[in-house]
Amino acid sequence: MDSILVKGGGALNGQIPIAGAKNACLTLMPATLLSDEPLTLTNAPRLSDIKTMTQLLASLGAEVTSLQDGKVLAMSTHGDINTRAEYDIVRKMRASNLVLGPLLAREGHAEVSLPGGCAIGARPMDIHTDGLTKMGAEIDLRDGYLHAKADGGKLKGAVIDFPFASVGATENIMMAATLAKGTTVINNAAREPEIVDLATCLRAMGAQIDGDGTPTITIQGVDKLHGATHRVVTDRIELGTYMLAPAICGGEVELLGGKIDLLGAFCEKLDAAGINVEETDKGLKVARKNGRIRAVDVTTEPFPGFPTDLQAQMMALLCTAEGTSVLEEKIFENRFMHAPELMRMGADIDVQGGTATVTGVEKLKGAPVMATDLRASVSLILAGLAAEGETRVARVYHLDRGYEHVVRKLSGVGANIERIAGD
Ligand code: EPU
Repeated sequence: MDSILVKGGGALNGQIPIAGAKNACLTLMPATLLSDEPLTLTNAPRLSDIKTMTQLLASLGAEVTSLQDGKVLAMSTHGDINTRAEYDIVRKMRASNLVLGPLLAREGHAEVSLPGGCAIGARPMDIHTDGLTKMGAEIDLRDGYLHAKADGGKLKGAVIDFPFASVGATENIMMAATLAKGTTVINNAAREPEIVDLATCLRAMGAQIDGDGTPTITIQGVDKLHGATHRVVTDRIELGTYMLAPAICGGEVELLGGKIDLLGAFCEKLDAAGINVEETDKGLKVARKNGRIRAVDVTTEPFPGFPTDLQAQMMALLCTAEGTSVLEEKIFENRFMHAPELMRMGADIDVQGGTATVTGVEKLKGAPVMATDLRASVSLILAGLAAEGETRVARVYHLDRGYEHVVRKLSGVGANIERIAGD
């Protein structure tokens, strides 16, 4: 297994291009199942999760062709398809559950393996299945698979009140509802930019959707969707991650393609911590205002709140801030696995349930560390960039799931970072 070796200390200067969003692309790809005409995505990120989704869609009978070095995905799902999403693929990536709504809408039935938990929490699917049940699906769990069947072979519109604004459930129900009979209303829907991106793509395919980006989304079912070409929205989590690089190390970095409205709550916390974020005609420029970073308290929330997917990276910043910061994780029950690794680098962190108290230290010290998930992994790289000495981050396959060309992007702004093959 490869690892990443980081030598800390230097300031970072230059530009980093930001890719298309992993989490948008992973929900846009299953939308190909809703039409037998081609769907083409541009600005796709080059990630192993995208390869896993490609493999899953191919197993269902879709054709997915990767063009322009993976930046364009040309997809087509014509003719007969297979409706069973196998455990062997689904277990690798939870986002595989996003084929459930489209398969059910297209074929009237689907068999999708339950993904199981992961390093950050249990991650059940009750909000997805309760919504689909309201739309007339009968869903049983047998042999680890959800067996879903639409009453009369077609889903029906329904009013669905989510108990929590789940991103995946909003996406699954929104896709299912595009081909249902009648109108579906999702109350307490997720508002993430990836939801708006999916709605924009579905509208380009002929779907009738209103209210995306607000808590109430209305979808009027249509008989058929057609082909479209859609550009994947900028990855706000990759953006936020690299905004933290000059914040932690010093220097000034411009994030190409970045926009403040993708990360409003995050930018407010950076400002309070003493980091300047300026909009330019190409993206966002980030630098420290002056002196040491100040402690800030952070609570993760659904969009437009502070994203859970940036909590680990923010913790890396706050490890060397002046004062004590309190981080509350409200989305996932087990998302502080990076804390003990940061402590191996000299950080002062006390975790009690969903709350981490971080007391800033003057400097972190390099150490061999290990990541348990994607965001934890990149937080250790950020910490390593600011630490004294060498940090070796093992289990880099987590990183490959969500950050394309991480070594190239960070060394392009002057970071001392390399990938080491093997153990
Ligand atoms: N939840 C339920 N029941 C459900 C669905 C969700 O209890 O039926 C709970 C989850 O267990 C979790 C919370 O609700 O505690 C949030 O889950 P949500 O459904 O909103 O998340 P998701 O769709 O599974 C997406 C991203 C995650 C990101 C979350 C929250 C994708 C592919 N994944 O997951 O991204 O953290 O939204 O914003 O879009 C990552 O990229 O590192 C990542 C984990």
